[in-house]
Amino acid sequence: MAEQAGDPLFKSHDPIFNRKELLHVGHVPDEDRIVGRDDEIESVAAEVGAITRGDPPNNVMIYGKTGTGKSLISRHVATRAQDAAHGNEIDCGVLYVDCSEANTETRATRQLALSLKDQTDYRENIPVRGVGTMEYYQHIWAILEEFFDAVIVILDEIDKLDNSNILMQLSRAREAQKTSAYIGVIGISNKVKYRETLDERIDSSFGHRELFFHPYDASQLREIMRNREDAFQPGVLEDGTIELCAALAAKKHGDARKAIEILKEAGELARRTGSETVAEDHIKQAQEVAEINRIEELTSGATVHAKLALYALASHIITGERETYKTREIYERYVDICELVATDPITENGLYRQLKEQAFLGVIESEKTGGGRSQGSYLLHRLVTDPKHIVKAVRRDASLEEVPPYERLAETGSGSAMRDRDVDLSSFS
Ligand SMILES: Nc1ncnc2c1ncn2[C@@H]1O[C@H](COP(=O)(O)OP(=O)(O)OP(=O)(O)O)[C@@H](O)[C@H]1O
Ligand SMILES: [Mg+2]
Repeated sequence: MAEQAGDPLFKSHDPIFNRKELLHVGHVPDEDRIVGRDDEIESVAAEVGAITRGDPPNNVMIYGKTGTGKSLISRHVATRAQDAAHGNEIDCGVLYVDCSEANTETRATRQLALSLKDQTDYRENIPVRGVGTMEYYQHIWAILEEFFDAVIVILDEIDKLDNSNILMQLSRAREAQKTSAYIGVIGISNKVKYRETLDERIDSSFGHRELFFHPYDASQLREIMRNREDAFQPGVLEDGTIELCAALAAKKHGDARKAIEILKEAGELARRTGSETVAEDHIKQAQEVAEINRIEELTSGATVHAKLALYALASHIITGERETYKTREIYERYVDICELVATDPITENGLYRQLKEQAFLGVIESEKTGGGRSQGSYLLHRLVTDPKHIVKAVRRDASLEEVPPYERLAETGSGSAMRDRDVDLSSFS
């Protein structure tokens, strides 16, 4: 029997990747691989930094689109602050709660209490079920009092929490003499909408600063990817591939996570096709796949009507001569499509609201235009992505697999010609 190491079925080394883990979604880069966010790092540090000198910190809310480094930078600064505090003999803890999982006050406080217990020699038992929020708070205050001078609490995806009481509890704890430890909260959200409702949710006791993280530009994305070049074997990445990847990602979204994913996918593609190098073409193909996935993710929670509205807009753009269309034009085509897929259409106003939601998500852009004196103003909608990606993403919804292609509808100006389901789908798939 052949020795396993020598079995040609299993190559002894990966021809494309050297340290592929550097490109994994969950990978947390080392400090020296974080680039392009120096100002943001300093801004967060300025808010919580007082802790390192034994002074009270500010609370801070960080807003920004997905993949702009909010979670990464928050954890990075919190850990550095903790180290600096320790250097000054200040007992500082760091607590991280992902509120998309711990999405109730009970879950969030349980996680805080358990994680504090983990970091200390606290002797009391903390039950994982059967007790309520108040009991978890008791443990939190007790541990803080006994073991800490200060703590930084990161509440990531804070908009997923069903209420904001935890913010009040944490910010009032000292005043209410629950603990003498200083508590600095870093709240993170990629929903700008959350900001609008935050003031209604909380009272003035949660004083906080706000920071906004902007999408990365091409040169920052390039730097981020260059710093992970050693994920690949030497010489595998052809010249210009990282530049291309950065340019494409910056143009679409400025999302570092997606840019890294594209690079990884390009490597996978090269390997699958037996190529020894990663070329620009691999990047372009990977970008296409990523873009469809992104649109699918963005639209996955959308109603069937929103998807059909996007489809109607996409079909207008594919078959027409313009890039932008009025709500009314989209609605008319949407009604035609509804008929074809035997779905009852919603009202034009209802559809308008669905379009607004999509504009908020960043799938479309809507712009108000003056339509001349007699017409008043109206909205023009454009797709942020290639319409073909919308067609693909919409068809991935099982209930919409049968949505017909659209080129012939434009010719007839009516849905009736589209009843023939055998028309060629290939131009869109
Ligand atoms: N400045 C950076 N330097 C190096 N890598 C980065 C940087 N910013 C982001 N990344 C990489 O991109 C990934 C996404 O960043 P992060 O998770 O911080 O985004 P986010 O703003 O929290 O997004 P979301 O709103 O989706 O949670 C990180 O895991 C990290 O690998
Ligand atoms: Mg995040």
